[in-house]
Amino acid sequence: MRRAVCPGSFDPVTNGHLDIFGRAAALFDEVVVAVGVNKSKSTSSSRLFTSDERLEMIGAAVSPWPNVKVQGFTGLVTDFCREIEAQAIVKGLRGSGDYDYELQMAQMNAHLTDVETVFLMTDPSMSFVSSSLVKEVASFGGDVSGLVPPAVFERLTVRLAERQQGA
Ligand code: PNS
Repeated sequence: MRRAVCPGSFDPVTNGHLDIFGRAAALFDEVVVAVGVNKSKSTSSSRLFTSDERLEMIGAAVSPWPNVKVQGFTGLVTDFCREIEAQAIVKGLRGSGDYDYELQMAQMNAHLTDVETVFLMTDPSMSFVSSSLVKEVASFGGDVSGLVPPAVFERLTVRLAERQQGA
């Protein structure tokens, strides 16, 4: 069984992420989308969605792929890979900025364990898409409906309206 992990915060999941999950699903027997729920890097208050909400949205979005599962994790990605017996971490690369950052992480993860990192080049039609930009553009009323799954778009619209009303 060849198992890969796609780690991230996915706040929220975008169509760019889904493109990577689907392509990873074609390369591996099983893909586990690992939702980081660590509090250290970004406090939960800086997230727009809770970990449960992020897990739920991803779960619904990956339902077309029977070999893609979703799990939350805390701690190191490499420890999670060891725990679930995954041989690879799959990440998308949008450009040189991602590459510089991801190369360092891949090398650190290789130092920590024997898990391989596999990079998939982002589909050019989605190379400008990030969760952060989607949230920023949506918060100013820009149209991000084509950049996230429809159910995510609905929840994003509701959550941003709640935030703007101070809820
Ligand atoms: O790029 P993202 O979406 O913000 O990534 C989030 C996540 C959870 C994947 C990242 O913060 C992470 O890898 N956290 C686990 C801690 C870890 O393994 N750090 C060492 C990386 S070399």
